[in-house]
Amino acid sequence: MGRIPERVIDEILDKADIESVVGHYVSFTKRSGSNLKGLCPFHSEKTPSFNVNTQKNIYKCFGCGKGGNAINFIMNIESLSYPEAVKFLGAKYGVDVPEEDSDYRESHIKQHKERVRKLLSDAEAFFIDEFKHSPDASVARSYAAGRQLDPDTCDKFGIGYAPAEWGVLKSFLVKKGYTEQEMADSGLFSVSSNGDKIFELFRGRLMFPIKDAFGNTIAFGGRNLGKELPKYINSPDSAVYKKQDNLYAYNIAKKERSKTLIVVEGYMDVIAMHKAGFSNTVAALGTAFTDSQLRLCARTGNCEEVVFFFDSDAAGQKAALRAIQMMIKYLRRMSGMMIIIKIAKVPGGKDPDEFIRQNGTEAFAKVVESAQTMSEYLAQRAYNDNVDENDKLDTARYLNDICLYGSWTDDEIARDIIAGEASKKLNMRIEVIINRMAGLASNDREREAMMEARGLGRMREEEIENRRSYQAQEQLPQEYYDSQVPPPETGALKKAEDVPQQDVPPGFPTFDQPQMSEDEIADPMQISLMAHALSLNELLCDKSMVDKEDIVRAGDFRCPNLKKMIREYYELYTEGTGVSVARFIDVMSKYLLNGRPAEDVILEAMTKCDRYSDSKVLRDMYLAILYKVRLEQMTVKEEELVKKMSLSMGEDREHIIQDLKKIDLYKKKIKDKESRI
Ligand code: UTP
Ligand code: MN
Repeated sequence: MGRIPERVIDEILDKADIESVVGHYVSFTKRSGSNLKGLCPFHSEKTPSFNVNTQKNIYKCFGCGKGGNAINFIMNIESLSYPEAVKFLGAKYGVDVPEEDSDYRESHIKQHKERVRKLLSDAEAFFIDEFKHSPDASVARSYAAGRQLDPDTCDKFGIGYAPAEWGVLKSFLVKKGYTEQEMADSGLFSVSSNGDKIFELFRGRLMFPIKDAFGNTIAFGGRNLGKELPKYINSPDSAVYKKQDNLYAYNIAKKERSKTLIVVEGYMDVIAMHKAGFSNTVAALGTAFTDSQLRLCARTGNCEEVVFFFDSDAAGQKAALRAIQMMIKYLRRMSGMMIIIKIAKVPGGKDPDEFIRQNGTEAFAKVVESAQTMSEYLAQRAYNDNVDENDKLDTARYLNDICLYGSWTDDEIARDIIAGEASKKLNMRIEVIINRMAGLASNDREREAMMEARGLGRMREEEIENRRSYQAQEQLPQEYYDSQVPPPETGALKKAEDVPQQDVPPGFPTFDQPQMSEDEIADPMQISLMAHALSLNELLCDKSMVDKEDIVRAGDFRCPNLKKMIREYYELYTEGTGVSVARFIDVMSKYLLNGRPAEDVILEAMTKCDRYSDSKVLRDMYLAILYKVRLEQMTVKEEELVKKMSLSMGEDREHIIQDLKKIDLYKKKIKDKESRI
């Protein structure tokens, strides 16, 4: 489909004022100036944390994090695609929406994504057909039957079979008219080291299609039928799939609109639980549970409680702690989010699938009911981790863990629960333990405050660090992918059994490729700078607000995506009559920052700026951050030049000295300006 002309988008955003658009779905309970408040339509909450800013024409929920302009509000609430939402608003507000093929790059990307989506859905149909009818799939069919995957269940979950032979899927897709590029971008193929050949990633495996919230197939998981490793292979991230933003079976579970959502670890667990009547179950797709997955849970409509099952092995229990720490932090930030989080444990070290098979549905319902709150879990966890077979407790380590877990939260009741047991066990006054928790927490917070004082805005670096370390773990060595490819000298089509299978090195929990590109890594200072600049948007247009040289430029950002964004901003700016923040959200939505959509990251940082009611204060904050960034850049340059100077002589050296002098002058000037803020 063609692209909608920019001017039409502008006209729609102009006419469809956010208050009337949102007002159809949300009743506002409070109004102060240009800010309206109400209950969020995207997650369940009791105190309003959904905000509309009529001046900027945007909305933002501090509870679930959703935010944007009128168009993406309609996309979210009516489950429409971008062009559909534009047409929806166009019809309502009397703006004609023609189609136009002006911007080739963008429409090309969109078309390509559409093709990849179509390819994935064709591939799903192919796998299902193979599973049902191919003689080669008899092993798969008996395996499925052995695991109690009856025909109805297989249909419901789209269970399929990927043939073992090289080239079968490829020739099916070639016949359907797909290009190699489209196949390579679908995540169903691996590309040879020199990049000129593609090979099926999934062969001889039982296939589990992974769907987005609307039921479109976006990826696959594939289970082995024998002993070859790895047990499961998952599609890597692609143009249409970000595993950290998705949950297995979410499209089915969300329809339940149940008060409780259950999160388990495995595909088979989900299927067994749906069969047993727990259709409100999803799985986290072999990745550490992320904040965007928690947001998804909160978005199902009625969800008040999320119950987690983690595997009982060491890796599963480690993942549990990490997920809990992340969730406590997240819930603290999103103080309006009314979600209760519980941790459940299947007795006897089994997973839910095995337990249900052996003990039945009712016994399992009891397990779900017996889930502990996070605080109860943490208290018990600290004990279990530090007690030996003879019930001897390592008291020092136990106390350490207790205090650490208590420092994650600032909720008094939670701290009381975590410290309570320990106080009895150690015969120690509870206040002593709670004081220690508070001490640890305030160390943490002091660090955060320091970052804030440096203009760094909300702390994200730790999160980025976490994401990076997950990726490091998740990335498999190239040899793994190479081992999935037939040796070149034997020709392309070869039976899978003839290819030596390489054992997968230990310590690689999932099998996906890394997803964060260099272009999207942005530190909090740069994000803060962008957020402040955009909040000053109207003022930046009014040149009298800041000096010309204090207008932010692409060169002020180190992060390539932020550079591109600000360039587009100025392109829009010179085109017309200034840029509305609402309009700019569309630009931002094309980019990622630290693995998240840029509009989420920037809007989140911008909500901070909303606190300054006085535009002069906002301007001063903006300038302070800008000067810090520029001074830092100069210092880096200086260091480079000094290094270079030590290696050069004569005229070159003179030039460098001149440059250093210029930098010094420039730094003095900025420092002078800084002191006058
Ligand atoms: P488990 O190893 O617990 O397997 O992995 P399972 O789900 O019980 O599978 P069955 O019952 O043996 O078939 C839990 C989840 O971790 C991911 C998958 O999402 C799996 O469902 N995983 C596991 C992988 O991605 N790769 C693997 O090699 C193993
Ligand atoms: Mn299992």
